[in-house]
Amino acid sequence: MADAKTPLRRVILGTGGTIAGRAARAGDNVGYVAGQVSAQDLIAAVPPLAGLPLEVEQVAQIDSKDMGLAVWQRLAERVAHHLAREDVAGVVITHGTDTLEETAFFLRAVLSPTKPVVLTCAMRPSTALVPDGPQNLLDAVTVAGDPQAHGVLAVCAGSVHAAEHVTKVHTYRVDAFDSGDAGPLGLVEEGRVRWLHLPDRPGTETPFDAQRLQRLQQATALPRVHWLTSHADADGVQVLALLAYGDAHPEAMPQGLVVAGTGNGTLHQALEAALQEAVSRGVVVRRSSRCARGRVIPGVAGALADTQGLSPAKARIALALELMGM
Ligand code: SIN
Repeated sequence: MADAKTPLRRVILGTGGTIAGRAARAGDNVGYVAGQVSAQDLIAAVPPLAGLPLEVEQVAQIDSKDMGLAVWQRLAERVAHHLAREDVAGVVITHGTDTLEETAFFLRAVLSPTKPVVLTCAMRPSTALVPDGPQNLLDAVTVAGDPQAHGVLAVCAGSVHAAEHVTKVHTYRVDAFDSGDAGPLGLVEEGRVRWLHLPDRPGTETPFDAQRLQRLQQATALPRVHWLTSHADADGVQVLALLAYGDAHPEAMPQGLVVAGTGNGTLHQALEAALQEAVSRGVVVRRSSRCARGRVIPGVAGALADTQGLSPAKARIALALELMGM
């Protein structure tokens, strides 16, 4: 529980998603439109939040499949603004499930926040017979006010996940997220967090990395990094087509490629040959795995560099930021 000195104010930033989705029929859990209900109305639908010192801002109202740099820049700026306030304990972000792990990883990579930044979501629209958003939102607000919470976290279906490990693993079930081999950081039970592992506390007391935020705000686009997959019967055509397109449109030449390999990051020989061609032309290539669990274990002579345990989705962001010198 927070002591008397802990600032209790939490700021909720709405970005859309199924949590803010609306369907024409209450029984419809798939035929809805995401990003329809305001964050203010989502809070009003959760009676235990009434009377808490909360602030709300609508940063975006989108289906998170359409997430991109412009919303990330605005979101990072608003998160940083509120984290810098002494009276704010933490920030909650309502977000679609589909790219939640990417936004979480991006904010962690750019801001390295000390205070908690908690992303939450829902798998059922707000109009569902039994929506999961209200409980997730309440749990996220609880986590954002917990004195042990630090950094970027995700809360869904009663579990707390770290940004670096959280992954959406199910298309439909409300318990759609997993942290792979790392497991969840904690569980939210009746308004309390039971930590299984404490989140890493950044080695600094500054609320966020202002220099990196400034670099991000100056960007007009992220470096072009594509994500490909190896599979039976794969060939190098996608890679060669990207290079050919880049020859015709230099502004679209890929700067990086992340490839989700089979098993321990192995690649079909035809795809690998095309990737080596890309490397010879200055494209940075990183090798991840398409397996849901585990990481690429280094040790194969001559192999392309691996993603140090990052999933392809997160490795793509990490490589883009690296190419920006961040
Ligand atoms: C979205 O990601 O915005 C739509 C899907 C969801 O939130 O579950």
